[in-house]
Amino acid sequence: MLIRTKRDWELPESAATPESVYINRRALMAGAGAIAGGLALGGAARAADAPVGAPAGAPVAAPARNPAYTLDRPVTPEAAATSYNNFYEFGTSKDVVTAAQKMPLRPWTLRIDGMVEKPLTLGVDDLLKAMPVEERLYRHRCVEAWAMAVPWMGFPLAKLVAFAKPLSSATYVELQTFGRDTYAAPGLRQPFYPWPYVEGLTMAEATNDLAFISTGLYGKPLQGQNGAPLRLTLPWKYGFKSVKSIVRISFTDKKPKTFWALLNADEYGFWANVNPAVPHPRWSQAHERLLGSNESVPTQIFNGYGAQVAGLYKGLEKEALFM
Ligand code: MTE
Repeated sequence: MLIRTKRDWELPESAATPESVYINRRALMAGAGAIAGGLALGGAARAADAPVGAPAGAPVAAPARNPAYTLDRPVTPEAAATSYNNFYEFGTSKDVVTAAQKMPLRPWTLRIDGMVEKPLTLGVDDLLKAMPVEERLYRHRCVEAWAMAVPWMGFPLAKLVAFAKPLSSATYVELQTFGRDTYAAPGLRQPFYPWPYVEGLTMAEATNDLAFISTGLYGKPLQGQNGAPLRLTLPWKYGFKSVKSIVRISFTDKKPKTFWALLNADEYGFWANVNPAVPHPRWSQAHERLLGSNESVPTQIFNGYGAQVAGLYKGLEKEALFM
């Protein structure tokens, strides 16, 4: 992504699910209680039971592909999607694989708090067992003007929101990556950045069916570099909105102060909807380079997902389509 030139830092270069499978919150609460009691929850689940709980990178029984989410371009080679990454907690280069794979993925807990009926901390495997995992093919567009097409595994963010039981007064969702108190990744030593990495969405965006929590890609559990074990995926927004390795989801009535907007809101604002007509201050967004083939193709408004999301921004076009 990008970067302000005058600084010594740089930004990254550059469905519905049947109610019958709906979340059993009481079962998860039982798991959360076990955490509170000090039990070590969340050892790797058997692949046959819970693909997303298998070791990172290991092939698992892939969940059914949701036919509503297909592509108009070839899937990016897996080697590119899993080796050319932005994950500033592990450094500002694209080569973070070695460092990110050192991060322990279990035990891993998710904190749900803020404007909810009852705050909760639960182990990731307890959450994953209850979520309706599926596969979706999504385009992925970085603000740096490169793009991928990825088969993700995971579940709709709307399912997690429903599970969290937010108060009706909550208007935003804030999602946060681990900080130094959880895992001392090398990039977190760089004091210039406003750690921890936080991203935010309106409730309407978070409950749009496209908003997805990824737990795997290419039929395998997520690896550290792609944001294991839980990572947001918002295909109609620039990639920096897709916060990795989530440890906390909070509900609020205040617009979240997001990581990149704190650094430079003109270049990386809260909305960050893909728009070929609005150049980044330092480069055009009219085209994008496909990782793998290097082909340059025209960028599409909302990254091609306008039919699903344009309605979210009715009356907000003046702000939501700029940055
Ligand atoms: N999440 C965290 N915590 N830290 C980051 O540096 N980079 C973002 C996003 N999520 C980032 C992050 C950016 S700029 C992009 S383009 C995508 O992750 C990259 O995801 P990928 O490496 O899986 O392609």
